[in-house]
Amino acid sequence: MKNRYAIVLAAGQGTRMKSKLYKVLHPILGKPMISYVLNALKPSTVDTMVTIVGHGAEEVMSQIGDKSRFVVQEEQLGTAHAVLQAEPLLKDKQGTTIVVCGDTPLITGETFEQLFTYHESLQSKATILTTKVENPTGYGRVLRSENLDVERIVEHKDATDEEKRVNEINTGTYCFDNEALFAALAKVDNNNSQQEYYLPDVIEILKAEGEKVTAFMTENEDETIGINDRVALANAEKVMRTRVNENHLRNGVTIIDPDTTYIGPEVTIEQDVTIQPGTMILGETTIGTGTFIGANSEIENCIIGNDSVIRQSVVKDSKIGNKANIGPFAHIRPETSVGDRARVGNFVEVKKSEVGADTKVSHLSYIGDAMLGKNINIGCGTVTVNFDGVHKHQTIIEDDAFIGCNTNLIAPVTVGEGALVAAGSTITDDIPKDALAIARAKQSTKEGYARKILDQK
Ligand code: UD1
Ligand code: CA
Repeated sequence: MKNRYAIVLAAGQGTRMKSKLYKVLHPILGKPMISYVLNALKPSTVDTMVTIVGHGAEEVMSQIGDKSRFVVQEEQLGTAHAVLQAEPLLKDKQGTTIVVCGDTPLITGETFEQLFTYHESLQSKATILTTKVENPTGYGRVLRSENLDVERIVEHKDATDEEKRVNEINTGTYCFDNEALFAALAKVDNNNSQQEYYLPDVIEILKAEGEKVTAFMTENEDETIGINDRVALANAEKVMRTRVNENHLRNGVTIIDPDTTYIGPEVTIEQDVTIQPGTMILGETTIGTGTFIGANSEIENCIIGNDSVIRQSVVKDSKIGNKANIGPFAHIRPETSVGDRARVGNFVEVKKSEVGADTKVSHLSYIGDAMLGKNINIGCGTVTVNFDGVHKHQTIIEDDAFIGCNTNLIAPVTVGEGALVAAGSTITDDIPKDALAIARAKQSTKEGYARKILDQK
């Protein structure tokens, strides 16, 4: 037991986002902003984590899963009211409760830990995480007395012109003595311009009772952005992108232009991988050493082996082996696996299929619901006809088969090992091992006919 607890505020609609999507679910590098907050809190190992949900409660809870307990705030009456909802779960606990807003996703675990340590070592009843910013517009201002003690926080909307000039802001993160917090919350009123119950008012209340209140000022100003609108969201994306990319650069990944390369926080990249501009690599992706990811590719939730090349392609929820060659302009859709040294070339779409080692689908083909063995050559323009309008069917092509150009494989169908399909065939029946199948209309040639027709003009 660490006697540490966390409350994450995530019940607001996020009106200023002007969106149907609830604010804390807006993604940064492909992940909902609230998940950054919960992940950063984890290293501090709190005993109980409580997330306050309201607007979009169902969706927020399903995104977070079992990382946190939840309490629903039915009506959003302000941040103090939100924290009060955690009372049934936390009221009688002794220790430190950290309160964090779900819309400040850039604060790191180290900063949370520093705040905890500072608060606990001074034995304060409340410690505010503050920072100085160039433009404090919109934030609560930290007002200090002549001897620099924290007095209270005034919200932007309630501040006088003079108070608005203060550039030390409340980041919305605090540590409280848990029992003092809930005792003070009962005394917060909503006499302010927004008629909301403000959590920062707890500071003034504790102060009036002669309790010790402190502030921990972080210099990591760009950790503390509160995302209230899409301008701030775009800024946060930039900060997070830089943070993630610099980490990979230091680990030996070449990123030609980090400003136009988007790598999610859960992506693992081994050294000597090269990533060209305009590329997005998101979700739980891993990329093996020596692999080259060409410009403008989109890769999500993929396991990619070593020394492979992927150019200008979209690859999702799939597995690519070693020394494979993908693109340019390939579309690899979910549940696909491409074997070692295999090739999926330009204008090829592969869906829910296995492409065996050394197999080549080099141009203009559709491979869907198919199992392709090893060392197969699929000619240009081949289509696995997998859908009869109602059901999906499987195509199986065994090792060493050769499929001529412009073949339709009407599934369900199996092409046996080493079999050969003549170009232009429409295959409806299984082909046994080592057989040749030709299924196309016979050509008829009429000597001299062309001249005759043309002469009539
Ligand atoms: C809040 C602080 C402000 C601080 C800023 C830092 C208050 C009154 N103000 O302002 O001093 O500078 O954060 O970013 O606390 N929420 C609920 N239930 C509610 C209201 C809000 O869960 O009833 C949640 C929101 O979903 C959000 C967080 O609390 O995640 C903060 O609310 P928001 O409205 O964004 O507060 P700010 O105006 O940014
Ligand atoms: Ca906010």
